[in-house]
Amino acid sequence: MRERIYLSPPHMGGNEIEYIKEAFSSNWIAPMGPQVNEFEREVAERIGVKGALALSSGTAAIHLSLKVLGVKEDDLVFCSDFTFSGSCNPIMYEKAKPVFIDADPETWNMSPKALKYGLEWAKSINKMPKAIIIVDLYGQSADYERLLPLCREYGIPVIEDAAEAMGAVHNGRACGSFGNLSVFSFNGNKIATTSGGGMVVSDDLDALAKMKYWSMQSKGDSLWYEHRELGYNYRLSNISAAIGRGQMDVLDKHIKRREEVFKRYEEGFSNNEYIKMMPVSKAGRPNYWLSVIQIDEKSPVSPMNIINGLGEENIEARPVWKPMHMQPYFEQYEFFAHDEYIGREIFKKGVCLPSGYNVVSDQDEIIDLINRMF
Ligand SMILES: Cc1ncc(COP(=O)(O)O)c(C=O)c1O
Repeated sequence: MRERIYLSPPHMGGNEIEYIKEAFSSNWIAPMGPQVNEFEREVAERIGVKGALALSSGTAAIHLSLKVLGVKEDDLVFCSDFTFSGSCNPIMYEKAKPVFIDADPETWNMSPKALKYGLEWAKSINKMPKAIIIVDLYGQSADYERLLPLCREYGIPVIEDAAEAMGAVHNGRACGSFGNLSVFSFNGNKIATTSGGGMVVSDDLDALAKMKYWSMQSKGDSLWYEHRELGYNYRLSNISAAIGRGQMDVLDKHIKRREEVFKRYEEGFSNNEYIKMMPVSKAGRPNYWLSVIQIDEKSPVSPMNIINGLGEENIEARPVWKPMHMQPYFEQYEFFAHDEYIGREIFKKGVCLPSGYNVVSDQDEIIDLINRMF
């Protein structure tokens, strides 16, 4: 049996080990240190924001963002419905109530139409959301020209969940620069990884300082640590940050490669009437984190046939994220559709294909295997 081909394995650029050596030689083997400071500075500079706070995960980053926006028990928080649960689990940590907003067919991200329905409903019950979490899914930006005016109209702060979108650009602006607070994930499957990690970026330096305090167990300045608030152990380690710095050095190279992978799938399936690539918005440049195909409903081969068929060849493929309003844990919460149920449709049709840096050497075979199933 061949070595397994994974969906999105990590790929080291080379400099990571040098930064790790720096961390070792300075003996900063700790949940903070010079590599963390540099990593934060480099990411903030790349995104074009004033500050950054490196944390242990993207989920922790969303959690502290909600807290700093004052989200409390029973508050409403709107959230993209078509996403990974890391986007909305932190809403539950604070015992707030998620309201899920459907996807838009053009971007697969939050539908401005569904958001408008949700906001009108919130107004009608006289309970506006405390925050709106807008996700940039599969490395593609949401349509901020249409979403942000709605959020502003009602004065609701935005958390941009750019966990999957490091390096993506929308109308000349970096993903991660659209939210009042924006979040990245450096989980092992992401385009830039620290093995596990996350970051909040923002122009609001006071908010970042507050989150930093919470992320280090809310330790006061005194020698005995005076605790006036609940704390969390959420800071990123200096070693992880060293890996992250090496990854930022090669981010553009990785984006270019993933774009090549996407284009090759597009070309490979161009004569297959049942397969369409995911939409790519003209307003920007995704980071092409995952190549996702859509299988026509009339197709004789189902998405699961493709996933299982590739699985038999030791090739990992997966369905797209199952929308949150369809998840047993979340189905009791409000959901606003885009008129038609877009997320459900995408879930029925979508397949994520191997998209990692080194898949190019096996890509023709993967394309061929899929086309031969038809
Ligand atoms: C859209 C989205 N939001 C949030 C997260 C959570 O990030 P982490 O795994 O770093 O906690 C992830 C990924 O894992 C994600 O894909």
